[in-house]
Amino acid sequence: MENIETQGISVPKLGLGTFRMQGDVCRAAVESGLELGYRHLDTAEMYGNEEAIGAAIAASKVARKDLHITTKVWNENLAPDAIRRACDASLKKLRLDQVDLYLVHWPAKSMNLPAMFETLMKLKPGGPGPRHWRRQFQHRAFENRGRGDQGADRLQPGRISRHAGPDAATQIPRGQIDPAGGLLPAGAGPRRHRRDAGQNRQEAQCQCGQVALKWLLDQDAVAAIPKASRAESQKANLGALNVKLDDGDRQAIAGLPKDKRCV
Ligand SMILES: NC(=O)c1ccc[n+]([C@@H]2O[C@H](COP(=O)([O-])OP(=O)(O)OC[C@H]3O[C@@H](n4cnc5c(N)ncnc54)[C@H](OP(=O)(O)O)[C@@H]3O)[C@@H](O)[C@H]2O)c1
Repeated sequence: MENIETQGISVPKLGLGTFRMQGDVCRAAVESGLELGYRHLDTAEMYGNEEAIGAAIAASKVARKDLHITTKVWNENLAPDAIRRACDASLKKLRLDQVDLYLVHWPAKSMNLPAMFETLMKLKPGGPGPRHWRRQFQHRAFENRGRGDQGADRLQPGRISRHAGPDAATQIPRGQIDPAGGLLPAGAGPRRHRRDAGQNRQEAQCQCGQVALKWLLDQDAVAAIPKASRAESQKANLGALNVKLDDGDRQAIAGLPKDKRCV
């Protein structure tokens, strides 16, 4: 599978999202995903499934070095001591010494940015804890850089989450982000029952969700992490990697309405 190389990390373009999967269902889904070839797992403290994912990783025969694991600290835990505790708890549940990417899940009004950055930076690469940490906010947060936001000059956007759609990658304010710093937007998808997305010549050969997912995967520097608990969905999403879109397909997708979230 193709990887995105950014900021010293190599991230498989297609990952497995795990939000709203917990317990045995989550464990079984992750075991199935790993068996099928997924090597990038997206979880979070808030998802309440790190234990199940840890059990699935431990049960799998996949070498740790071949996996990319992202987890996130929830916004109630952004004070220095709380970040350290949350990170330790996540690692313990995941049964790992390190995660590959540690994200701040969501901003909190009360967060102290300099203290938060100090703490995150002390969770050193190479040591126990995350190999990389990044703060992940909606892009509006980046627009506020340089407007007196303390510590914002040290802000390195690492990942921007967008929901899949024709505007998903194009609305990212790349001009405001240091290109040398790298960008790893994560798109969520595919969306089911998007019949108009399948009204192109791919329709006869693949599912419309695969078309949407392949469109997303074809975007530069975009990793997609569709959540799929059923093996058939996981297989279909892996199959999207082999779908080929031509200019006609891309034109049809570009013509889709951009002001609707299709679920
Ligand atoms: N800020 C953040 O950090 C953030 C925010 C949102 C999401 N995320 C991450 O992004 C992930 C992706 O979310 P999502 O929007 O994909 O999740 P979702 O909308 O909650 O779930 C995707 C749905 O699509 C179905 N599906 C997946 N592939 C399919 C296929 N090929 N054919 C038919 N149905 C299919 C799944 O079915 P089955 O499960 O039944 O197979 C599931 O019901 C989350 O799980 C999470 O890890 C991160």
